Amino acid sequence: MTNESLPRLGIIGSGKGSNMAAIADACQAGEVPARIALVVSDVENAGILDLARNRGLAARFIPPGPFKTKLGEEAEWEYVRAFRDAQADWIVLAGFMRILKQPFLSAFPQRVLNIHPALLPAFPGLRAWQQALDYGVKFTGCTIHLVDQGVDTGPIIAQAVVPVLDDDTPATLHERVQVEERRLYPKAIAALVNHRIRMVGRRALGMV
Ligand code: GRF
Repeated sequence: MTNESLPRLGIIGSGKGSNMAAIADACQAGEVPARIALVVSDVENAGILDLARNRGLAARFIPPGPFKTKLGEEAEWEYVRAFRDAQADWIVLAGFMRILKQPFLSAFPQRVLNIHPALLPAFPGLRAWQQALDYGVKFTGCTIHLVDQGVDTGPIIAQAVVPVLDDDTPATLHERVQVEERRLYPKAIAALVNHRIRMVGRRALGMV
């Protein structure tokens, strides 16, 4: 397959971009048969944009509009246009701190992926590793799921388990979860673009 004919990933993130970097490295190494077409952030100085530009990837800040937890309507259209122009086949959320709604989700139906730092359906929402630590679970992890209208409620594609240790702080637990995220996300994307995953209702069947 030539580089041009590979499936195209559009990535959105608000933070430091370690998941994006892991996915980019896996694409570069040929472990994920896809290419990153565009990286977008709602945060102008986000590390994810620097990491993308350092790798020679197209990267854009698109202002999110007036709200804190979602995109404004105009902004959401702008995001749709950017990824359509980039001919993105899959949208990969990697630390994006806002909820996507319409028109975005209907523009890319069943093609928006998210990574969540806990074993869903436990601990949806913000700072999930902290929620897990405070609750006292012995194991937590990360979940890759398709994005639907809810918050962290879409069909689960893959999960990885991480132990919670007695001397964990929120920071040490989050770092252990992130190590698994960086391993699992590229594998899940590879399985999806290789059509190794089949959806039956909410269930994702096949091997990641
Ligand atoms: C990850 O922990 C992810 O699960 C959460 O946000 C964090 C993003 O980290 N949704 P990074 O920007 O990829 O380093």
